[in-house]
Amino acid sequence: MKLTINGDEYDIAESPPRPLLWVLRDELGLTGTKFGCGAGFCGACTVHINGEAVRSCVTPLTTINGEVRTIEGLPTVADDGMITLHPVQQAFLEDQVPQCSWCMSGQIMTAAAFLAKNPIPNENEIVEAMGENYCRCGCYFRIKGAVAKAAEQLATQEETAV
Ligand code: FES
Ligand code: FES
Repeated sequence: MKLTINGDEYDIAESPPRPLLWVLRDELGLTGTKFGCGAGFCGACTVHINGEAVRSCVTPLTTINGEVRTIEGLPTVADDGMITLHPVQQAFLEDQVPQCSWCMSGQIMTAAAFLAKNPIPNENEIVEAMGENYCRCGCYFRIKGAVAKAAEQLATQEETAV
């Protein structure tokens, strides 16, 4: 089957049946997406399908109908090759959010999908949106702050663009 991931088209065998996460990590080498629980609970494996945050460990390959984006495809790349991090990535970096970092790709992908839908969230909305992504290092306070910071950054970009 054909699958578009981060703007590139791949030809991927449909069998044996396997979740998207296995394909990303083991077949395509896109190891930025992490394996945590493998059961849809922790959020470490979150990617976007058509802009929606989904858990790739419980997403069967053959059910995918749309474009996949992983953490590797979140930055924008200009024609001259210049890479610009997504505001969520930039905020997580500036605020030094991660400890071990294992959950962070999923946190960032969840936050990016959330802010695309709700660019001016209040604190409660951020907590709720991020509440199903677990961090064993307990970085929740910094995660919340960085998502709020990214929202401010996105709002500034919008104003500048108008
Ligand atoms: S590894 Fe997918 S939700 Fe935990
Ligand atoms: S930074 Fe270690 S699990 Fe979140």
